[in-house]
Amino acid sequence: RQERLVFGIESSCDDTAAAVLRIGERVEILSSIVRGQDEAHAPFGGVVPEIAARAHADRIDQVAAEALREAGVTAVALDLIAATAGPGLIGGVMAGFTFAKGLSLATGVPLVPVNHLEGHALSAGLEHDVPLPYLLLLVSGGHSQLLLIEGAGKAKRLGTTIDDAAGEAFDKTAKLMGLGVPGGPAIQRVAEEGDAERFAMPRPLLGRKGFDFSFSGLKTAVRQAAEEAAPLSDQDRADLAASFQAAAVKHLASRTEAALRETGATTLVAAGGVAANAMLRARLEEIAEAEGAGFLVPGLKYCTDNAAMIALAGARLHEAGLAPTQEDALALAPRP
Ligand code: KG4
Ligand code: ZN
Repeated sequence: RQERLVFGIESSCDDTAAAVLRIGERVEILSSIVRGQDEAHAPFGGVVPEIAARAHADRIDQVAAEALREAGVTAVALDLIAATAGPGLIGGVMAGFTFAKGLSLATGVPLVPVNHLEGHALSAGLEHDVPLPYLLLLVSGGHSQLLLIEGAGKAKRLGTTIDDAAGEAFDKTAKLMGLGVPGGPAIQRVAEEGDAERFAMPRPLLGRKGFDFSFSGLKTAVRQAAEEAAPLSDQDRADLAASFQAAAVKHLASRTEAALRETGATTLVAAGGVAANAMLRARLEEIAEAEGAGFLVPGLKYCTDNAAMIALAGARLHEAGLAPTQEDALALAPRP
């Protein structure tokens, strides 16, 4: 394989990100800049799309320049520009993707539109050699899916959520307990001091075949428990967070275990923001080991949104001949 310099841009939610990868026999991350917007959204208890869009438009050029500078390359030296073209909050996606179009036009470097989920799906490949096919648990703020990944652009969906996404459930639960934004890390932190046995939680879709997920019942259970125990002490919050986290992890893990058995996949991969959860990582590792499968998960900073995974996915799609022509890439309208 010839070495290629690949630029990545990501702006689908509340992280403005750019990265430069050198991809040959190995994958080298020359830079990966992620600028979050937590303070801008914190007063509203969640991501405000309009604020996110403006923040991306405001910073994307600086973040891109920083990524190039840190990698020690100029834009004209790039071989490929990969940018998230959806799904996500449309204002932010447009800011990043339109910037990428401009950069591509100005430099003549080909543009590859990337589906954000494809980025997460291939993200374990940033730091590991991942054997194909693999079973992927993709759990983020917007999605919860079990997929069989056969290569770039080749995924079979085994299951998905029938209501909230896993990360959304962590975020909403944190919000109703008065914990900060984003909710997932806050719940994990607070749960460390908590008793997971204190509050009884339902077991979603228990006895239901298949690999779908459901989180709305857990969210309701937390709301009811919080109302009954109000006003909440710090210990109540810790116990509630621990009870919720244990139930959510159990649900994710048991569906994943069933899918691992049914598919006979020899490698299990977890990706997406919720894959940063320590309890989930530990549990999945146990499951994989028990089934005799390997377990791979990106480092924490490549679980949550970043542009390195977008660059990698763009390069892999391009290698597989699945990238659109330059004309089609430039004409593409980003989608929400
Ligand atoms: O992949 P990501 O950065 O953005 C999306 O594509 O959605 O995922 C963000 C989600 C948020 O819902 C956040 O609360 C959750 O990942 N998250 C976590 C943890 N870290 C981030 N959830 C549980 N435990 C964590 N440690
Ligand atoms: Zn994401």
